[in-house]
Amino acid sequence: MGKIVTVTLNPAIDKTVTLPRLEPGCVNRIHQVRTDPGGKGINVARALHQWGADVTATGFNGGWTGKWLESYLQQEGITHHLVPLPGDTRMNWKLMETETDRVTDINEPGFRVTEKALILLEIQLSEVLEGAKAVVFAGSLPDGVSEDVYQRLIDLAQKKQVPVFVDTEGVPFQKCMEQAPFAVKPNMDEVSKWMGFKIEKEEDIRRAGHCLLDKGVKVAVISMGEQGAWFFMKEQQFRTVPVSIHHAHPVGAGDAMVAGLLYGMSSGWNWKKTARFATAAGTVAASYPGTQFGSLEEVEAVAPQVQLIE
Ligand SMILES: Nc1ncnc2c1ncn2[C@@H]1O[C@H](COP(=O)(O)OP(=O)(O)OP(=O)(O)O)[C@@H](O)[C@H]1O
Ligand SMILES: [Mg+2]
Repeated sequence: MGKIVTVTLNPAIDKTVTLPRLEPGCVNRIHQVRTDPGGKGINVARALHQWGADVTATGFNGGWTGKWLESYLQQEGITHHLVPLPGDTRMNWKLMETETDRVTDINEPGFRVTEKALILLEIQLSEVLEGAKAVVFAGSLPDGVSEDVYQRLIDLAQKKQVPVFVDTEGVPFQKCMEQAPFAVKPNMDEVSKWMGFKIEKEEDIRRAGHCLLDKGVKVAVISMGEQGAWFFMKEQQFRTVPVSIHHAHPVGAGDAMVAGLLYGMSSGWNWKKTARFATAAGTVAASYPGTQFGSLEEVEAVAPQVQLIE
């Protein structure tokens, strides 16, 4: 199957807190709390590892929160090379209100990356990318790096002929697109931002898909949550419709989908099989609270139920 490399410049620790109703300005008592490692690339690595793929997680890490993240990866047996920084890996709080179903996010800014640390990452990444089947750059950028940092790192991978997957948004996504990565997976908001208008109708989605391909991307996946996803390749395009689930916790569904795309591609599957698997991976992740990805068997059981519309 070959090694898959994930790059997470801004990892996190996700704290999911459940309480009846958030009362601003008051003391709020939490009912439940769960702690998960986070950052999109870390999530992709967790999902792939759970499915038995050979994955190496790279990126930055720091402080006591970073120690927690490192010990998690160690315990799970996920190969990782994270460049240490003096600041703390950020903690992201997700406050879920059971009475209103409202979700409030409170995200820390996290550490600041130095140029020296970035050079160290480039050195590590170049070693890790040797013989890799694919690499994914996922998530937001930390403080201290310029918005074209992904371009610099993508260039490194492309020089080694490693196919590049991208899952980020805003200006970093725009910059990544200039490098014509192999595959991208924006959701509707992210692709709307890139296109410069709100994408809703099918014809707009098709237009966006073709714009992504015109920029040199080989596989453009536009995900739409419970509505599934559109897959655009030069020679074919289709839509997947996922099975429906009762109570969705969509955090991490996109990361599971990216992991599914990487899993299918590095297994040498065709795009239809890969699309079904990736769509199912998103659904399985959405069926669990926090960021949990389910087993390979669970995803494989759901994949044949995914509808494919051409
Ligand atoms: N409620 C749901 N029911 C069934 N499947 C879902 C649901 N939510 C997500 N999925 C599956 O997961 C895929 C990716 O979800 P989504 O479009 O929400 O990603 P995203 O917005 O990138 O999420 P993330 O917050 O992880 O970045 C969908 O295409 C679908 O296959
Ligand atoms: Mg996403």
